[in-house]
Amino acid sequence: MSQQFDVVVIGAGPGGYIAAIRAAQLGFNVACIDEWKNAAGGPAPGGTCTNVGCIPSKALLQSSEHFDHANHHFADHGITATGVKMDIAKMLARKDSVVKQNNEGILFLFKKNKVSFFHGRGSFVAAKDGAYEIKVAGKVEETISGKHVVVATGSSARTLPGTPFDEDNILSNDGALRIGAVPKKLGLIGSGVIGLEMGSVWRRLGAEVTVLEGLPTFLGAVDQQIAKEAHKAFIKQGLKIELGVKVGEIKSAKKGVSVAYTNAKGEAVSLDVDKLIISIGRVANTTGLAADTVGLALDERGAIVVDADCKTNLPNVWAVGDVVRGPMLAHKAEEEGVAVAERIAGQHGHVNFNTIPWVIYTNPEIAWVGQTEEQLKAAGRAYKAGTFPFMANGRARALGDTTGMVKMLADAATDEILGVHIVGPMASELIAECVVAMEFRASSEDIARICHAHPSLSEATKEAALAVDKRTLNF
Ligand code: FAD
Ligand code: NAI
Repeated sequence: MSQQFDVVVIGAGPGGYIAAIRAAQLGFNVACIDEWKNAAGGPAPGGTCTNVGCIPSKALLQSSEHFDHANHHFADHGITATGVKMDIAKMLARKDSVVKQNNEGILFLFKKNKVSFFHGRGSFVAAKDGAYEIKVAGKVEETISGKHVVVATGSSARTLPGTPFDEDNILSNDGALRIGAVPKKLGLIGSGVIGLEMGSVWRRLGAEVTVLEGLPTFLGAVDQQIAKEAHKAFIKQGLKIELGVKVGEIKSAKKGVSVAYTNAKGEAVSLDVDKLIISIGRVANTTGLAADTVGLALDERGAIVVDADCKTNLPNVWAVGDVVRGPMLAHKAEEEGVAVAERIAGQHGHVNFNTIPWVIYTNPEIAWVGQTEEQLKAAGRAYKAGTFPFMANGRARALGDTTGMVKMLADAATDEILGVHIVGPMASELIAECVVAMEFRASSEDIARICHAHPSLSEATKEAALAVDKRTLNF
């Protein structure tokens, strides 16, 4: 007789492992299945985020930023640092150990919350007697069953037709995080979030980086005033970004990769690089699930079809995170995981899609929540805008990092905050206050009246709020 659970979660990325823990907290008997293997073949829960996404990329961004500071900014503080060298093997080993700590942390959390962990691939077998049978193909093969199933199988990198990732010359996010030596020339296709973050890492370490972007607009989903400011900063740092290109044939040989493309002027050009990262978006992981055996509905891109509550077309089968619609972000996956566990328990789990923050961890950082000025214009919404530059913020001057601004958008009549957009130092942390404000449907005047510590970068947020009413104090 197979082991029976109240809830079986397939996938232990941020969507899955958080759903499993929340369901266990709510008193359910929970199993979580994940197939990710570490270098020794053991379990490595945490999904894309922990193994080849959020965590390792931030580790490398941190290491490369220290290197950049030592080379280019220490001197401003009177520090002489000569002969600064980067030991790439050590940097990668540190990143790997950060990943391992996170993998182990999740296994510990499973134990603490009495979640049964199964290492292997989970796939649907049948719906039987009010439950779903799920096969786990790991070192051994076994079948378990769950009254409820939460699918959280995540996503994988998309590539261009006819250009498979070899993770040696042609890299996905996985290979991009473990290049063994700084390439002299690095090419990236796609100037989205991965393109900019990984391009920044390897540029700081000394690579000549060229990013080829298909769209004519830089960071089209970002408020364009903020995107323009970021673009200026990246170009100044030496990142080459070509917009409006059409990528043609990609040839990979032992000595490197050659990318034929048509530039924005319509000219045929070739880019020769040592390594090429393709970062043109991601696709849902549903191929190994045997979704058809139980009739689980997928859309034309292979993502699982869900309603606003993450319910699929099958009773008691739910899906969360990158494998469903919506932004592919770890915190969005986590919020959905919690909400689904609570809905299974008959509670009213809720995810507010209007207040999901975005962060791009480049330097300057880019972070935003809510609507952009372009979206408000397109919707015909009357709004007021206030901006405040970090140049006029005392803490930013003391840090020696005055690039960028905070921009706040508020409803013209009610003053409710509709969006906040930040490019500059610690934007990733500053955005949290704005998310809270929007969750509580604060007005810009609420932020303007709140006492912010001095000197702090958060004063720029307060000043942007004052700017909405045209009464900045320090600019
Ligand atoms: P995943 O994290 O992809 O986890 C899915 C898990 O399910 C994996 O372990 C997979 O092996 C497993 N699985 C799949 N199929 C099966 C099966 N049939 N049986 C068993 N197991 C299976 N987001 C942010 O919010 N902030 C960031 O800074 C950030 N940085 C990123 C950097 C990079 C380079 C990348 C690629 C992504 C980044 N993301 C970031 C996005 C983030 O990683 C994803 O949004 C997040 O991991 C989605 O979580 P998930 O649980 O839906 O899926
Ligand atoms: P992306 O969607 O952010 O960017 C892809 C870029 O590639 C776009 O600008 C697109 O116009 C361009 N593109 C698409 N096809 C192209 C083609 N044929 N030729 C040239 N350009 C092309 O996707 P990316 O960077 O792969 O990241 C995937 C997802 O992972 C992100 O959308 C995000 O959800 C998540 N992520 C989040 C991070 C964060 O939160 N800091 C960091 C990294 C990834």
